[in-house]
Amino acid sequence: MTERPQRQMFEPGTTIDDLKEYMAPFVARLGYKFNTETEFVDEVLESELEILADTGDIYCPCRVRSGDPKEDAKIVCPCIPFFRDEFAGLRKCWCGLFILAGVEDGGELLGVMDEPDGDVDVPVFLASDVPEGQIRHVKVGKTSIAVAHAPDGFYALSNVCRHAFGPLGEGFMDGCHVMCPWHGWRYDVRDGTTDHPNADVRTYPTTERDGVVFVKMRISAKR
Ligand code: SF4
Ligand code: FES
Repeated sequence: MTERPQRQMFEPGTTIDDLKEYMAPFVARLGYKFNTETEFVDEVLESELEILADTGDIYCPCRVRSGDPKEDAKIVCPCIPFFRDEFAGLRKCWCGLFILAGVEDGGELLGVMDEPDGDVDVPVFLASDVPEGQIRHVKVGKTSIAVAHAPDGFYALSNVCRHAFGPLGEGFMDGCHVMCPWHGWRYDVRDGTTDHPNADVRTYPTTERDGVVFVKMRISAKR
């Protein structure tokens, strides 16, 4: 399977161009791109370089660090994997440094916006990153899902096997079925059904647009 984007550490002397070179392909694989407002992008990245000089890492310029290294690791830029659902609802990351790949005018998304509420198409990965016959675990907010590439397209279902909570996203694909890696229960990825009674798993509508796979999730502003 294609490698997932890897996090890179930066040293003093890093430039804005270095950050762009690392970040552009990283976020593209998550369905995002840099904001079309190029001056704004440079300002945000300049702030990140100042934070790098002060703290040793490229923490988000628009979030407050808690002091807890585990929590703060979630706001090292680009933080999109930790906030997929929220950002998909906003169509941008909090700062607006990145926007969904399909947004044409990032200038419309600058500034504070209402919290998203309702059904949102959340980009999860590039279709080319998960070949047919593969399945991948993806965390969307607090929800763990498994996204499978079956012979007739992509399907998303709960990552949690109903037998003993095995990770279906680490299972083995056989046509339109995934076999749980722990004890072999089989689920149809198209509708979440299994031969075991009362043990079907939830599925989520999935689409593919412009080479990106999206999973429809319900998110609430009252989280
Ligand atoms: S909100 Fe945007 S700028 Fe801030 S860390 Fe996340 S991706 Fe980077
Ligand atoms: S946990 Fe999935 S088959 Fe046992």
